[in-house]
Order: sequence, then C-alpha cells, then structure tokens
Amino acid sequence: MKHYAFSAFARLLAVSLYAAATVSGGVANAQSVVRSLPPATSDGSGRGGHGGGDNGGGGGGPQDPGPRGAPVSAGGFLPGLTSAQLSQAQDGANRFVETETFPGGLGPSYNSGPFKACGECHAQPALGGSSPSLAAYPFVGPNPQATVDYNADGATNTVPSFITPSGPVREARFVTFANGTADGGVHDLFTVTGRADAPTCQLTQPPFAAQLAAGNVIFRIPTPVFGAGLIENIDDATILANQSANASAKAALGIAGQPNRSGNDGTITRFGWKAQNKSLVMFAGEAYVVEVGVSNELFQTKRPAPGTTLPSGCKTTATPDDTTNPQLTGPAVNSDVTAFAAFMRMLAPPAEGPSTAQTQQGQQVFTAIGCSLCHTPSMTTAASSEATALSNVKVNLFSDLLVHDMGTGLADGVSQGSANGQQFRTAPLWGLGQRAFFLHDGRTSDLVDAIQQHSSSGSEANGVIKNFNGLSQSQQQDLLDFLRSL
Ligand code: HEC
Ligand code: HEC
Repeated sequence: MKHYAFSAFARLLAVSLYAAATVSGGVANAQSVVRSLPPATSDGSGRGGHGGGDNGGGGGGPQDPGPRGAPVSAGGFLPGLTSAQLSQAQDGANRFVETETFPGGLGPSYNSGPFKACGECHAQPALGGSSPSLAAYPFVGPNPQATVDYNADGATNTVPSFITPSGPVREARFVTFANGTADGGVHDLFTVTGRADAPTCQLTQPPFAAQLAAGNVIFRIPTPVFGAGLIENIDDATILANQSANASAKAALGIAGQPNRSGNDGTITRFGWKAQNKSLVMFAGEAYVVEVGVSNELFQTKRPAPGTTLPSGCKTTATPDDTTNPQLTGPAVNSDVTAFAAFMRMLAPPAEGPSTAQTQQGQQVFTAIGCSLCHTPSMTTAASSEATALSNVKVNLFSDLLVHDMGTGLADGVSQGSANGQQFRTAPLWGLGQRAFFLHDGRTSDLVDAIQQHSSSGSEANGVIKNFNGLSQSQQQDLLDFLRSL
C-alpha cells in the first residue's frame, strides 16, 4: 500500500512503558447487597478534581468525575518482549498510522477521516484506544470523520448529520433492507467518487437522511484494543467456568449470558461490541476492508455496500491490495493485516489510577450490588507460545466476554453470530478512567447515564440497576470514583 505516516498521531506513539496494574477481586455474592457495605467515607462533596468533570446532572446527585487527567495511562507495550517482538510490534504501530491512498488501497468506500488509517479512530487516550475527543484529556482532537477533506481531491461527499466534530467516531449499520429482510451490515460513510484519480467510479453515499428518518440506522463506536492480546489468549474453558460461577446469585438477579461463537470452528469469539470476532488478525482484516477499503489476504475483494454489487468502474486495480511481502526481510515481510495484529497483540492493558479510600469502597460496592457478575474483575490467560507476557497472566478486564440481553433501550436490532438484536458483549471496563464516549453507539459521555441505560424492558441488568438506585448517594459516588480509577 501507499504509506505515509501522519505526524498528528506520531506523538501518540511516544508513550512511556509501564507495568500492568494488578488490582483485582473475585466475583462475590450479589445477595450481600447494600446493607452489608461499610459506611461511605465521604458525602460526595469536594470531588471531581480530575479535570473535565462537568458531566452528570449537577445539583445534588452523584457525579461522574470525568476523564482522569495526566498521565496517559495506556499505549505502551507489554513488559518483557524480546527485541524481535518489539520491532515487529513497532512496525505494526507505524503501519497503524499510515495513510492509504487511491488507487490500490483506499476505497471505493470508507469510514475513516482525512488520514485513512486505523489510528485515526483508535486514538483516545493513546494509539490503539477509542474515539478521539476534543473535550477529554489528552485532547487528541475532533472526530476525524467530521474534519477537512471529505471533499479532498475532488470527492463529492457530504458529512452525515450524526457525525459532528465533538461527537464520537461512528460506524453506521442499517437494520433492514428496503424489502424488510435483515441487513445489519456496515454502510460506509464516504466514497472516492468525484476524485480526479477515480474518474470511472460512480458510487453515491448511502441515503442516510432518509434511513435515519425511517429509524433504520444504528451506530457503533470504536472499542479500544489495549490488552487485546491478553483477551485473545483467554481459554474458552476459562470463560465457560466463569459463566458457571455464582450461578445462584446470577439467577436471583436475572442475569444469564452466553458466549458468541465462530461460524468457522465453533470456538468462543470475543472482539467487537457483540463479541462477533475471533481474533485480532480477523478483526484487522475486516477493519482494513470495511473502514478503509483495503482488500487483503483475509478479505480478498473490494467491498460493495450491503445488498449491492460493486460497479466495475470502481475496481481499478488487481486485488488484494495488501499482501505478505516475501521479497522483503524482517517485519516488512508481514502483510499490513499481520502487522496491525502484531501491534495490537503486544499492547499492555491500561494502567489504573491511584487507589483511594473512595475507589476501594467503590470496588466493594461494584461487587456487592452485582456489577461484577457480568463485569468479571479478572480472568487468567492460557500459556502462550508467542510471549511470556501473554502467558498465565491474571487480566483485570472487567468483562465475562459473554453477550447479555440488554433490553429494548440498548437494542440495535442487529444479529451477529449467535448474538441477537438485544445482546451485547459485557464491555471490558479497563481504561474507563480515560474514555470519552460510552456504550456501543457512544450515546453518552456520562457514567451515571451509562449505568442507567443498562435498565429497560427485558434487560438482564435490571436487578443490578435496582440495587444501584438503592445505594446512598455517597456509595454511588464511590462507585463512580472507582470506575474512573480504571
Ligand atoms: C472509521 C473508524 C475506524 C477505523 C479507521 C478503524 N476502526 Fe477498528 N473499530 C471501529 C469500530 C466502530 C469498532 C467496533 C465495531 C463493532 O464492534 O461493531 C472497531 C473495533 C475494532 C477492534 C475490536 C477490538 C475489541 O476488543 O472489540 C479491532 C481489533 C480493530 N477495530 C482494529 C482496527 C484496525 C486494525 C484498523 C485499521 C485497519 C481499524 N480498526 C480501523 C472503528 C474503526
Ligand atoms: C447483565 C450484565 C451486566 C451488568 C449486571 C452490568 N453491566 Fe455494564 N455493561 C454490560 C454490557 C452488555 C455493556 C455494553 C452495552 C452496550 O454498549 O450497549 C455494558 C457497558 C457498561 C459501561 C460502558 C462501557 C463502555 O465501554 O462504553 C459501563 C460504564 C458499565 N457497563 C458499568 C456497569 C456498572 C457500574 C454496573 C453495575 C451497576 C454494570 N455495568 C452492570 C453488561 C452488564
């Protein structure tokens, strides 16, 4: 591919290494609810010193302290990598910020912004993270999808109404096709049509305004990939044993949950908002063709919009665009897809912020009211043939990696694998302290709202949210402080 590193993100690579944090706790009995908690240490006054904390309702209620300030707590590599592994991971990081150009790479449709690179959407608070934000430390910047060059090189794109500079990066899916059958596929925002170098490609943007008016569009924001190599290396048996643990506490609260599974080999899939993807290589291959338009060894052909055929004038070069490079040596032999995966696999988990009396109490509340029955504080990885740092490590991901029915309020009507239109993967909560947008569609930046959105008709979390609403205000505040320490 044509590669040009973009300097705006180069600085994000220069994050110092750190050791992974090690706070954890077992899954506890949810019936030991509110009354058994120690008295809170604070009445909730004098909080919110982290900076950027004007989220929340104001007034007397508990308040999301907002994204934690300096230092950036993610973006370094795992400890103990060999120099060969480090150079491969660094090579992957460099490609993660490289711009794709047309032809032979970009398009004909894509979701990325001016730099046409993975790192543009996976940027907050460091390379590999989630949607960048103007308002949250470290102020990575506006939503790239809303900036500058959607008309660059003569392209004729308009920015859809749901993309704004201060809002999250979004990918759009349509729930059904015009004839009412299930769609669920990603409809890319932009096309190369109109560019001087794409004279033969006539592709119109999807009819977003009409589809929005019909209530047929759902959104996904980027999930961060810090610690993703550890998630990849948790054995299916570990996930299933955790699913069976605390059965009576889960049943009492109405919590079920099931793994999503690969249609290829039947094993548990775990990446993405619906746990729809098996591995980092698989996700990288899919993202390369869907988000940027680069066909590759996993997804060999250029991609039309769901339900359509690509006009022949839009296929201007031989495919796939990205291949292994046997003529080269060292990490350069890797295809881009392999290199992206090598980078993501070696990223350390986010480090936790300082532990205080409030955050410790908050963690007890988190366990006592049953949040931890879905957001499992830790699981242990299997032995890895790739790196000691991936082997037999206790991973504080705060997820069971299962999909749960989250009710009509969060439902998106899209099925992926065995996850239906109301089911989502328990979102891993590590790194939450420096996240700017929450829930699969980025509908809120306020943790209190994110918690309340768990509750709607049919949601498995309704019992736990009822427990949350029964807490004292200072217990709720401790819980929020704990979440912003992750
Ligand atoms: C236009 C923005 C955008 C770009 C560019 C982008 N992504 Fe993503 N990424 C997303 C979104 C949105 C999701 C969540 C998708 C879902 O679950 O439906 C995601 C999810 C992921 C995940 C899953 C992580 C997890 O634990 O769930 C991986 C891995 C990933 N992307 C890798 C990449 C790679 C590699 C590239 C470059 C080839 C890339 N992404 C480019 C938006 C983007
Ligand atoms: C029944 C399982 C379940 C329970 C119980 C549960 N959650 Fe969740 N949580 C989820 C799922 C699934 C998501 C993703 C939902 C979505 O994006 O639509 C999620 C998302 C979140 C998010 C947003 C994370 C992100 O990446 O955007 C936060 C914060 C959160 N949960 C906190 C909590 C807290 C605090 C509690 C206890 C009061 C709790 N959850 C209880 C399943 C659960």
